Amino acid sequence: MKFFVDTADTEEIRELADTGLLDGVTTNPSLIAKSGRDFFEVIKEICDLVEGPVSAEVAATDYETMIEEGKRLAGIAENVAVKVPLTMAGLKTCSQLSKAGTQVNVTLCFSAAQAILAAKAGATYVSPFVGRLDDIGQDGMNLISDIVQIYGNYTSLQTEVLVASIRNPIHIVNSALMGADVCTVPPQVLKQLVSHPLTDKGLAAFLADWEKTGQKILD
Ligand code: G3P
Repeated sequence: MKFFVDTADTEEIRELADTGLLDGVTTNPSLIAKSGRDFFEVIKEICDLVEGPVSAEVAATDYETMIEEGKRLAGIAENVAVKVPLTMAGLKTCSQLSKAGTQVNVTLCFSAAQAILAAKAGATYVSPFVGRLDDIGQDGMNLISDIVQIYGNYTSLQTEVLVASIRNPIHIVNSALMGADVCTVPPQVLKQLVSHPLTDKGLAAFLADWEKTGQKILD
């Protein structure tokens, strides 16, 4: 399973890219607003930091403007994936951009029916939002299970399931169990993923015992 990070904070992206664990980045208008930076500047900088796809979202809602925005965003760097909303105009834009060889991430997916349409439109990625479904009392992970199963029924479908709106490590573990292709993870959840109190306790005990030996590995 691939790991993307869901942020427009270039310092956090730089730090994670250095770990070798990062396969890509997703942004959205809210994350760009949070960064307080120029959209084009920040996307270009992220594209230089990571080799994998960097999702940059259109702001228009009509097809004509959306396609022009998509072309402009795709021109920033080769690894830009244009992000479009799961609307009829977004699907039409997805279809056109995909045919032209641009990677497209269809976002704001909340149903299996919508995911079927995204795949029909030739999306590179579909982004179902699990956390926001959980927030309204539905089980977001059920949607991932359904989409993975449906896409698996048609080997010709190339669309990857990109689990978004992740709130905790359990979302990630269950995504992997279900065979989702990608998780886009907020930086704080990535940090939660690595932590375990028994790892910290065990390491402290090993270090204390090593100290008692008086030995060194490096001179
Ligand atoms: O980037 C899309 C998605 O991951 C947003 O997550 O936490 O705003 O629901 P969230």
